[in-house]
Amino acid sequence: MKNISVAVVGATGAVGREMIRALHQSMLPIAKITLFASPRSVGMQLSSDFGNLTIQPLCPGCFRGIDIALFSAGSSVSREVAPRAVAEGAIVIDNSSCWRQDASVPLVVPEVNPAFSHQGIIANPNCSTIQMVVALHPIHKRWGIKRVVVSTYQAVSGSGHRGSAELQRQIGLYPDNDLFDTSHFGQPILNNVIPIIGEMQPDGFTSEEHKMRFETRKILAAPELLVSATTVRVPVFVGHAEAVTLELLHPADPDEVRMLLHSSPGMQVLDDGADRQPMPILSASCDDVMVGRIRRDPVFDNGLSLWIVANNLRKGAALNAVQIAKLLYNGR
Ligand SMILES: NC(=O)c1ccc[n+]([C@@H]2O[C@H](COP(=O)([O-])OP(=O)(O)OC[C@H]3O[C@@H](n4cnc5c(N)ncnc54)[C@H](OP(=O)(O)O)[C@@H]3O)[C@@H](O)[C@H]2O)c1
Repeated sequence: MKNISVAVVGATGAVGREMIRALHQSMLPIAKITLFASPRSVGMQLSSDFGNLTIQPLCPGCFRGIDIALFSAGSSVSREVAPRAVAEGAIVIDNSSCWRQDASVPLVVPEVNPAFSHQGIIANPNCSTIQMVVALHPIHKRWGIKRVVVSTYQAVSGSGHRGSAELQRQIGLYPDNDLFDTSHFGQPILNNVIPIIGEMQPDGFTSEEHKMRFETRKILAAPELLVSATTVRVPVFVGHAEAVTLELLHPADPDEVRMLLHSSPGMQVLDDGADRQPMPILSASCDDVMVGRIRRDPVFDNGLSLWIVANNLRKGAALNAVQIAKLLYNGR
């Protein structure tokens, strides 16, 4: 087994730190790990499962000798630096939205579309999309999905470490709302929910909602699928939740859905009445996508509703990227 050299770009970020942890847990034979972040952090020592590592500068030639580079430093860094990393010999797994819509770049969730070809860059989907398609994929294969209506309850860490820090500061100041710094979310996030994630689009949806529609279609290879999303930020640190209603092509019995999801990869069914249902707090110690509240829905013909929860930093970002790295490694 050849040892590999990996890099994390955006290593000081909420996702980057989780990528380092997931790489350490991955059993990949990692000979060397190189960390990059912005010029602000260059030279900083980062304490990690691999020991204390120094943040390196992104400069010409810095990807030579690196086999796999996980990027999680935002779209502009990915747009500028990822092609150079590929030219220098690395395969890039990119966590930003930069390449997701590019038809030549695969958008991969290992439980759903593990067989893909690439030209050096593989895109990691949006966090809220990943957890939804893991649950939808087996249902789509078995009964066919015609429509998806989803409302999300997204944790503050989904908007980076600054999102978590803003909620933490507001908790410290509560109930003096007048003292709240709202520079990151634009509104108080403590004691509130914010029904806008991303930028408003001319059609009244947001960029996050557009991502959920486009990416779900691409990953499920279902270009006709109708997807309507409402994405909402909630004062939870980690763990996105989603209320999903589907119109299926064929009727599905909820017990059969439970059994199917129970036996599908990367998923746990927690659906025991009021006693045991998925909640963000459970996602701190669970890497699987959790599904509950599975029931027939009267609004659609062949309607089915479910509740989906996952850790946005793990399965929604870092872990999915590391699972892709494992697919690449095993396919060598
Ligand atoms: N958070 C999630 O749940 C989640 C889920 C899916 C996808 N994503 C995507 O993942 C990416 C990172 O998100 P995050 O939540 O980890 O954000 P974050 O906590 O704000 O971290 C951003 C990281 O990018 C680095 N960075 C910023 N500008 C840079 C530059 N010019 N050159 C090199 N590195 C630079 C930062 O380094 P410094 O510390 O030096 O500033 C930091 O390491 C974003 O594209 C986001 O959309 C996030």
